[in-house]
Amino acid sequence: MRKLLTTVFALAVMSGAAYADTIKVGVIGPFSGPFALQGKNFKAGIDAFFAINGNKVGDNQIEVVYRDVPTADPAKSKAFAQELIVKEGVQYLAGFYFTPDAMAAAPLLQQGNVPMVVMNAATSAIVSASPNVVRTSFTTWQTATPIAKVAKEAGASKMITLVSDYGPGIDAENAFKTAFEKEGGKVVESIRMPLNTNDFAPLMQRVKDSGAEALFTFLPSGPPTLAFVKAYNDNGLKTAGIKFYATGDLTQESDLPALADAGVGLQTSFHYAVSHDSPENKAFVAAAEKAIGNPAELSFPAVGAFDGMYVISKMVEATKGKQDAATAVAAVKGLAWTSPRGPVVIDAESRHITQNIYLREVAKDASGKYYNKEIRTFEKQGDPGLAAAKK
Ligand code: PHB
Repeated sequence: MRKLLTTVFALAVMSGAAYADTIKVGVIGPFSGPFALQGKNFKAGIDAFFAINGNKVGDNQIEVVYRDVPTADPAKSKAFAQELIVKEGVQYLAGFYFTPDAMAAAPLLQQGNVPMVVMNAATSAIVSASPNVVRTSFTTWQTATPIAKVAKEAGASKMITLVSDYGPGIDAENAFKTAFEKEGGKVVESIRMPLNTNDFAPLMQRVKDSGAEALFTFLPSGPPTLAFVKAYNDNGLKTAGIKFYATGDLTQESDLPALADAGVGLQTSFHYAVSHDSPENKAFVAAAEKAIGNPAELSFPAVGAFDGMYVISKMVEATKGKQDAATAVAAVKGLAWTSPRGPVVIDAESRHITQNIYLREVAKDASGKYYNKEIRTFEKQGDPGLAAAKK
């Protein structure tokens, strides 16, 4: 028997033939705890991809293995990545909601011969951490730059920035300040908030005292973003006429029912709105809503995951199912397609996704449902953060 198996294996190798195999994809994300809804959206996006495309690429069957890292926890992420590569035998790593979790796993990729497809984490530098990283989400440089222009054009000249004190927050602060000051505005104060707080009331007084006409903010989507927008409303900033500008993380669709009328009118910039009007998005939303169960829970991590699975399917196609990270990554450099979010391309140099960034405003439709209404498009945005890092 042993001899027979060896012979069959040798024949398969000799002929270079693709033989049917199960290809495992390890997905790390927050599937429990305060950010569980974000991880649930990863899963919904992945399930929607399989519902539309099937889970076979050629003769190979794709199987997803999930690992739960509830909050930013680099040590835990690294341990799971190691376990997935060595014990579970995954050919691909994917997911990664939080930047520190992606950064911690990146050093394992080359030796493990494994590509990483980042489905959310948004700090520019992640793609530079390993040549095996490809990203299908966004960067905060990419999303924060256009809203600075919008704020200036709407009349703000003195602004304050408030960001979570870690990678994507610091990038968002730098991006906003760079773009706003280029337009002739001035950032009068920049506040960095601890990642693990949901108490923003004390900061709202500082915003009032700063003399800023408007604020810009970034926090990771989940309980902190909902709490921040509530604090903005409840502490009289809106009534004081201090305008609110943010990246779309602050008004994710799943938070809108809780914000209710207080959310209406908030302007944010982002790569994806569930309401995006296109045939590709209609098909995606139908499949993703079915996968998630409760349509009101659908949010942006689902589209990063859906497109991430598309990229992985192209990698499997190019490698004919064999484990070959360099060939897999090379195959998707320059890959262009129509995502549910609009036209996209994996930039061949950076391995980050080039895409439209939309200005959206929270609105209420005739049925009373709150949504992000796209009102302006900034086309084909690359990542200004990578260009800034080179200077
Ligand atoms: C990140 O940690 O990179 C991150 C998390 C949540 C977001 C955006 C970025 O909404």
